[in-house]
Amino acid sequence: MGEAGLIVSPPRPVRELPGYDEGAFSVQDAGAQIAAPLLGARDGERVLDACAAPGGKTTHILELADVELTALDADAARLPRVHTNLARQKLASDRVRVVAGDAAAPASWWDGRPYDRILADVPCTASGIVRRHPDVKWLRRASDVASFAAVQHAMLDALWSCLARGGTLVYATCSVFVEENEAQAAAFAARMPDALRESPVFPAGAESSGGQLLPSLPGARHNQDGFFYARFRRA
Ligand SMILES: C[S@@+](CC[C@H](N)C(=O)[O-])C[C@H]1O[C@@H](n2cnc3c(N)ncnc32)[C@H](O)[C@@H]1O
Repeated sequence: MGEAGLIVSPPRPVRELPGYDEGAFSVQDAGAQIAAPLLGARDGERVLDACAAPGGKTTHILELADVELTALDADAARLPRVHTNLARQKLASDRVRVVAGDAAAPASWWDGRPYDRILADVPCTASGIVRRHPDVKWLRRASDVASFAAVQHAMLDALWSCLARGGTLVYATCSVFVEENEAQAAAFAARMPDALRESPVFPAGAESSGGQLLPSLPGARHNQDGFFYARFRRA
């Protein structure tokens, strides 16, 4: 499944699997596994994981490259899980900073040094994970789409100011709604003259329509969540 994933069948409690406590692997949906390779961080770069908790993508980024990383999340109560995941996978170091802060207000947490790569795995309706969490359908109201879109818009604009020239920002949601996805990405590219939209390359079997990944698209082979990815380079 994906480039680095396996499906354990039949499913078992993860801690019963050999190597889990020692940090040999972690659990991530196939759609989520695309984020870190798409970000493409290289050794020595400065990376911001702007909505990091519980740290699934943070640890994946650190597995792929030796970077200086800030793991930011607005919900301080979720940050202990980032620390736990870093420790379990033996990825905690003085080059990894875990910070409570609002991605839309960098003045409160940013030291002013631009990041080479930013992952914006933004809060969203989570409409792409309904197959695993059917309660999402009952917990959401129609008005949530516009509320999340407004938050995502503010985050994107603020995070863009933290990105180095030539740097890369990956925008990700686990939503299937166009307002949070393509409309958001297209509007961002239109209002930021120095944002060059790049075509993301997805692994074989993860079928996408303009960055929208769905398990139901023709040719899709992965039993994955609905995800959206857009990638921008700063001119
Ligand atoms: C989709 S989840 C992130 C999942 C995470 N990237 C992972 O792979 O494990 C979105 C996260 O955004 C955080 N969040 C919500 N509003 C935020 C804000 N204004 N600034 C930073 N993080 C925020 C939430 O607390 C939540 O942990």
